[in-house]
Amino acid sequence: NNSQATQLKNDYQTVTELYNHILLKTVVGEKALKYLQKRHVSAETIAHFQIGYAPAANDTVVQFLQTSNRSGQEIISSGLFAENDQGEIFDRFRDRLMFPVTDQSGNVVAFSGRVLQTDDQVAMAKYLNSPETPIFNKSKTLFNLAAAKKDIRQQGEVILFEGFMDVISAYQAGVLNGVASMGTSLTDEQLYLLNRITQRIVICYDGDQPGIKAAQRALKLLKNKNFEVAIVVIPDGQDPDEFIKAQGSAAFVKLVRQKTLSPTAFMIEYLSRQFDLTNDAAKVDFLNSALEYIGANDSPVEQELYVKQLAQRLNISVTAIQQELQDKVRSQK
Ligand code: CTP
Ligand code: MN
Ligand code: MN
Ligand code: MN
Ligand code: MN
Repeated sequence: NNSQATQLKNDYQTVTELYNHILLKTVVGEKALKYLQKRHVSAETIAHFQIGYAPAANDTVVQFLQTSNRSGQEIISSGLFAENDQGEIFDRFRDRLMFPVTDQSGNVVAFSGRVLQTDDQVAMAKYLNSPETPIFNKSKTLFNLAAAKKDIRQQGEVILFEGFMDVISAYQAGVLNGVASMGTSLTDEQLYLLNRITQRIVICYDGDQPGIKAAQRALKLLKNKNFEVAIVVIPDGQDPDEFIKAQGSAAFVKLVRQKTLSPTAFMIEYLSRQFDLTNDAAKVDFLNSALEYIGANDSPVEQELYVKQLAQRLNISVTAIQQELQDKVRSQK
């Protein structure tokens, strides 16, 4: 109910401030602060995203909220705690970097907590999210949407990232219209939220195999929806955060502005990586798969553009490819 939701939002706001204070002002928070510095996250960025640190102790939030006079059930359903077999309540988030997640009005309604180890040292889940609560529904939430809303409107487009750190690094690079889904595939509900603010989506997922697969899935979901779609492919298997760290902010801004592929161009590029194009049989297979996508594109102008590009790339005449495409389209009808 309403008063429970208000109470929960108050708790999340209070705990956000607590975690942020621990990160910035206490000895316990020093190693987390060092971790952020190593990842080039500035003080302004920490303040903007209200990043914090949940200490290793299992009763930091338990102690902090103790005075607030609530029933055990209320406390458990807040998502901030867990309960052991003895019925003891302890903090859900321990020894993690804390990213507050807001609802559309900017109220903190959940956290995502990252372990401080680097990827290859991580034995447990790298990111731990809050569970679903009366105020948090993961599939209806996009990280940073409330803060980015104004910039999304101004830019006329939203940039969709895979991870929190990608949104945060992009912000630091001056790209303020980024959001991320909560560690899951994009949902129709999230698209519905975005559609009320913009009609243009730029997918900027990780440049590795899982990222490319996820981009494909997102393209499928976006088909026949009221969006214009573009894709940025991050080179060398990096993610946007790694790219920015390696190449700098200006290079990232340029990549986002210029190297934007259409969905069809993206699929052709993606397909081309699956085939050994020095082999004639593979060339023919690649051409056939690529023509499926080109044939599915309704725009004659785009069709001609991609046919020409394929002709050049494969050293086959435009006429022959055009003929092949027409046969394909006809056989599909
Ligand atoms: N994710 C998760 N649990 C994991 C790994 C990933 O919930 N064990 C989610 C997170 O939301 C993460 C996103 O999937 O942001 C993308 O995963 P990945 O690319 O592996 O993480 P990064 O965002 O690159 O995280 P970092 O840079 O902090 O390593
Ligand atoms: Mn700011
Ligand atoms: Mn990834
Ligand atoms: Mn990543
Ligand atoms: Mn990353």
